[in-house]
Amino acid sequence: MYLLFIITFLGAVLCQTQQPWMNVSDSPQTRANALISKMTLEQMVVMLHGVNSPGYTGMTSPIPELGVPSLTLNDGRQGFRPNDGSKTNTAFPCAVQVVATFDKVLMNEFGTAMGEEFVCKGSNVMLAPMLILARVPLDGRIFESIGADPELGYAFAYNMITGAQSVQGLIANADDFVLNNQESSRTSISAVCDERTLFELYYRAYKGAIDANVGSFMCSYNRVNGSYACENAVTLGDLKSPQGLNFSGWVLSDWGGVHSTVNSSLNGLDQEMPGSDYFGQALIDAVTAGQVPMSVIYDKVYRIFVPMFQQGLFDVPSSGNQDTNCTSQPHTLLSRTIAAAGTVLLKNANNAVLPIDTSSVKNILVVGDSASLSPQCCGYGSGFNNPPYIVTPLEGITNRAGPTINVTYAPSPASSAGLHQWVSASRGDHFLDFSCDACDNSYIDKRIEGFAYNVKCPDCVELKLYWDGGNLSNVVTTSDYVPGTSYDYIRPIGYALPLTYNGPLATSVLELWGGKEVVNGNTHMTYFTLATTDSRTEAQAMNLQLIGQLARVTVTADAPDISAVTKLASAADFVVVVVATPSSEGSDRPNLDLSQEDDALVTAVTGANAKTVVVLNSPAAIIMNWSDAAGAILHNFFPGQEMGNALADILFGDVNPSGRMPLTIPMSNSDNPLPTPEQYPGVNGSVYYTEKLLIDYRWFDFNNVTPRFAFGHGLSYTSFSYSNLVIDTTSQAPSVLVSFDVSNTGSRSGKEVPQLYLSFPASSDEPLQQLRGFDNIFLAPGAKQTVSMVLTARDLSIWGVRPVYAWQLQTGTFTVHVGASSRDIRLSDTFVR
Ligand code: BGC
Repeated sequence: MYLLFIITFLGAVLCQTQQPWMNVSDSPQTRANALISKMTLEQMVVMLHGVNSPGYTGMTSPIPELGVPSLTLNDGRQGFRPNDGSKTNTAFPCAVQVVATFDKVLMNEFGTAMGEEFVCKGSNVMLAPMLILARVPLDGRIFESIGADPELGYAFAYNMITGAQSVQGLIANADDFVLNNQESSRTSISAVCDERTLFELYYRAYKGAIDANVGSFMCSYNRVNGSYACENAVTLGDLKSPQGLNFSGWVLSDWGGVHSTVNSSLNGLDQEMPGSDYFGQALIDAVTAGQVPMSVIYDKVYRIFVPMFQQGLFDVPSSGNQDTNCTSQPHTLLSRTIAAAGTVLLKNANNAVLPIDTSSVKNILVVGDSASLSPQCCGYGSGFNNPPYIVTPLEGITNRAGPTINVTYAPSPASSAGLHQWVSASRGDHFLDFSCDACDNSYIDKRIEGFAYNVKCPDCVELKLYWDGGNLSNVVTTSDYVPGTSYDYIRPIGYALPLTYNGPLATSVLELWGGKEVVNGNTHMTYFTLATTDSRTEAQAMNLQLIGQLARVTVTADAPDISAVTKLASAADFVVVVVATPSSEGSDRPNLDLSQEDDALVTAVTGANAKTVVVLNSPAAIIMNWSDAAGAILHNFFPGQEMGNALADILFGDVNPSGRMPLTIPMSNSDNPLPTPEQYPGVNGSVYYTEKLLIDYRWFDFNNVTPRFAFGHGLSYTSFSYSNLVIDTTSQAPSVLVSFDVSNTGSRSGKEVPQLYLSFPASSDEPLQQLRGFDNIFLAPGAKQTVSMVLTARDLSIWGVRPVYAWQLQTGTFTVHVGASSRDIRLSDTFVR
């Protein structure tokens, strides 16, 4: 034993002598320098680009002779995104729902749990969190992101990354730098934005990532002020310069987001993903030709190695792999806890509709496809997560209601296409058979489970995927459906099928149309056409993620019209209607409306029964012309696999709601902070940020427009009062300390989210009020707590543009507003500095 110890010890010493960078007692910086000093240019360049990755979204090649492990980068913003169709990862709520908790502890726990599952899956770079600001209310990626406020985004970034990187072996990645605020023309649009707006709004959440010591950044597809984000000297300069954001890690490109070798490498891009078109041999050639100095290459590799050493990637070899089941009871519970905590009670008429009074309610009608047949647990695109299961709203409510309450279900009534009427579907019955035109069928990967399909197809420039329905009639037709008979049913989600893929064709534009019916002889087929503008034909596997919904449905009764549902609703003691707006990377929403059918359904049901709660599974704002009639409204985002249980927790009062809206819900589509086409979607290839600092509530405040539900709004089943505002400008100057008391004046325990909004002196030319602090406190009935918040010097500053290039502390009269939302201010006072 003793001998073995000596041999091991000597072996380690020998190894460290030969590979001094393996000495764990040295700092990551020393180790990185020691390693790089032994590398050839070719070896260094290996670190600067991706290689074909069979298992992960992206990876680098290992360098075994130097002990350098491979980086394994993977998507997933509400959980690890599986690349093999497996379902062995937790589907957490989408990021904006985590943000809506306004709870820094839960943000941190979410990050830790995400980090644990990524490492368990063998991925050491988590391509999350996504930190884009909801400037555009229609943006298709709001679900993956931080909502509309930079301070809230800062808190999410800081806490989520601190949690994630507390996991050994995990490097987080702050996505998608910067101004990738719309999906419309996202690969080419130039965002024209001034420096002050960049620093005060759009950089702020990224600063939270840097303050949490994030290891890596991803630059985005779009251009900023004319130059591509991945070769933008100004924004990447701001990111890395000590006077700017002072980021010391590395910048990797979005997939296919590189457009040059010399400009990108000189201007701050460190690593190309997923391939090596620009940062492989071309980079070696550029160095050899003297166009890119060796010091630049050295700096890039150093920026990659330091976080790798810091997070233990060299010292503890990864034991994770994609076949491992990484789900766990604690993660399931966390998913449910966050889903409930991030559910916002927008309305509760007379504080009396919710929670459901189980002593008087004897039957509950649950309405809508989204409650059972097509629950929207998750967003789509690279942020998708293949959930291991989904507890649907109907299941969650039925389980919680127990035997004494009768729960019945009515799917959405006939839509204009004559679809899916009065059907019930068992999600276990899913069945789909893809074949692939123009490619070798043997490459097709038939992992058809749930509703995400991975299909691999080499050589496909135009790929047709079609489902041969065989002798079965499919319900996209207007066939007569016989009650009691089963039919196969396939429906693409929404107007455009969301789609992502990984692989060398990343620069191409992919479009997918679905649900078109072809009658081929006697066979009905539903087919999807996938077109790509990429002209390359080399045999490279594409990993496509097609997302549609497939179910074997049983027609249980003749199709009712909306009046039949209305009749059922008026007879019920209580009604829960669930509606959704799917959302995806790759496309923005066309407007903020529900589908016409869902809108009509909600209008009918809320009109029929005052005890109706409307549940919205939507990433962002929805126009709710029926809100006055609704008994209660819950904004439930995309809550992950535990969606039904979490919803039941709120409906039955097991959890007292405390979620807050991280963005404004307007009265109508025309209450729009970006009213001109120049502002959105852009004209002639550019989109102009002329509203400057006036996004979301800042715009509503400035223009005195009343929102339907304000930023920061969210109700509780109890009530809170605020008192005793104290502003201390001296004891920690230049910081200002603010304190106040919050009391629970109701009869239930619950969490309150006190918010601090700051108004600057008029001379500072800032928005009327801006969030500068929030807390999340639990109070028993009758309990009171003093809440303290610090306004730092930066909080009291504005950005001084070049040549100042620094925060400028403002002087004059500031006003502090404390309250329960941006439009529910309970206490205000001023201070002068
Ligand atoms: C997305 C990124 C993602 C990448 C890899 C891109 O389309 O913008 O957020 O990480 O694909 O899947």
